[in-house]
Amino acid sequence: MPTPPAEEPASRRPGRTVEEILADAGEEARGALRVLGELVGNEPPGVAGPVPFAARHLGVDPLAVAATRYTGPASALAVLGNLMRLEMERHGAAVAIGSPGEGAPPAWSQIDLGLDAHGLPLEVTVPGKMIVAFPAGTIAPVPLCLKIVDTPQWQREFTVLSTVADKRVAEETMKRLRERVCGGENPLRGRVLQASVGDCGLSIGVCPAIDAGREGLVLPDEVWREVDVFLAAATTRRDLLRSLGLGTNRGLLVAGPPGVGKTYLVRVIAAALAGRYTTILADAHAMRHVLAELYAEAETFGPSLVVLDDIDLVLGHRDASHDNAPLADFLATLDGARQRQDVLTIATTNDPQSLDPAAQRANRFDTIVSLPLPDAATRTRILERHLGPLGLPIDPADLAAELDGATGADVREVVRRAVLEHGATFDTAQLAEIVRSGRWRATVNRRKYL
Ligand SMILES: Nc1ncnc2c1ncn2[C@@H]1O[C@H](COP(=O)(O)OP(=O)(O)OP(=O)(O)O)[C@@H](O)[C@H]1O
Ligand SMILES: [Mg+2]
Repeated sequence: MPTPPAEEPASRRPGRTVEEILADAGEEARGALRVLGELVGNEPPGVAGPVPFAARHLGVDPLAVAATRYTGPASALAVLGNLMRLEMERHGAAVAIGSPGEGAPPAWSQIDLGLDAHGLPLEVTVPGKMIVAFPAGTIAPVPLCLKIVDTPQWQREFTVLSTVADKRVAEETMKRLRERVCGGENPLRGRVLQASVGDCGLSIGVCPAIDAGREGLVLPDEVWREVDVFLAAATTRRDLLRSLGLGTNRGLLVAGPPGVGKTYLVRVIAAALAGRYTTILADAHAMRHVLAELYAEAETFGPSLVVLDDIDLVLGHRDASHDNAPLADFLATLDGARQRQDVLTIATTNDPQSLDPAAQRANRFDTIVSLPLPDAATRTRILERHLGPLGLPIDPADLAAELDGATGADVREVVRRAVLEHGATFDTAQLAEIVRSGRWRATVNRRKYL
């Protein structure tokens, strides 16, 4: 029987990468090759792939390098990057930085934290794409490498590289780092964030804090009572509800015609929960396209309040809507069974009837609050509220009686028109003239232009 041709020695097979050759070579040959590479300039040390980099710093063969991976939402990765930065600062000269792979140099990313107390932009620079070697006795008793790649084009990932023998330590380190993200060490926690859609899906930015007090809004007492119950369930009564197995608060749906103060009420609630809850304001694009992703992110920020203003613009009725995908997404995301422990939702709608009944079901929103059109007494108080800062001797009761059918926003507009036309001083007759003229009413210009 003919003997098969002897297999070509691995070292002489064509098309092998430098890393494969290095992996096969003995430690001395590897050292010599590395020096030669640096001299020739083909492989500067910072551009070696992450596995050879890790192998070198862990003191093992590349085949003995183990990876413990976490693939999370973008903001979780940014916050892990921030922890990496803190550890790099803490251990200073002891750490070494390497390439994230594919010949790319290490790169940094910015986390935008909005404005500071003086109105200046606050930013932190964190590792975006890189590998960092931490020697034994720094982040763990054994040497470990942390690798981050925060862009989705590159498979977003955070990895702890260790020797195969130290894989348990790597897993514990990953667990501790992730606990720190969900704990206090998240610079985005407790802030007001805006969720929209960017080039790579969901994009989250920081907004100025919301400053809206109850005194700006006149609503029936029973509405404030519902709001107080909702706030108590989210704050003072939260732990008690949980310990009794009575579930947690999921959400509030605020319904009412245009201009009755729904958006303002949401702002009042968000301001009341500021600091304890991270507020995430979703714009229409985010609601339509990346809602599930947004809720996944919300968990990174500790207790969060997701605000979905004007959901009726995005979620229609199953029969009426041509595009049912946003509704299906919404129903699945807010389903009671899949509800997240610490994510509250507040949504507003002009027309609860237009919302699919399933979207209103009690396990998606605990409470539905209806804001009515203001009656004459309420209109009087709204006029007083908006006229108050001017300090004019005007009795608003008769004027309010004439504003039948007006919303809170209309009443505010009456005062705004008066200020536009007369400045800071006007009398009851001048205000009455504006009320009667109807100039405060937003109307469509029906004249035809030829
Ligand atoms: N009940 C009210 N008391 C005092 N001010 C009010 C009241 N309702 C509305 N306003 C005034 O009108 C403004 C606009 O109201 P808001 O935007 O909250 O209405 P909305 O119900 O969200 O309307 P839309 O359905 O058009 O979004 C508020 O910022 C507030 O100044
Ligand atoms: Mg609104």
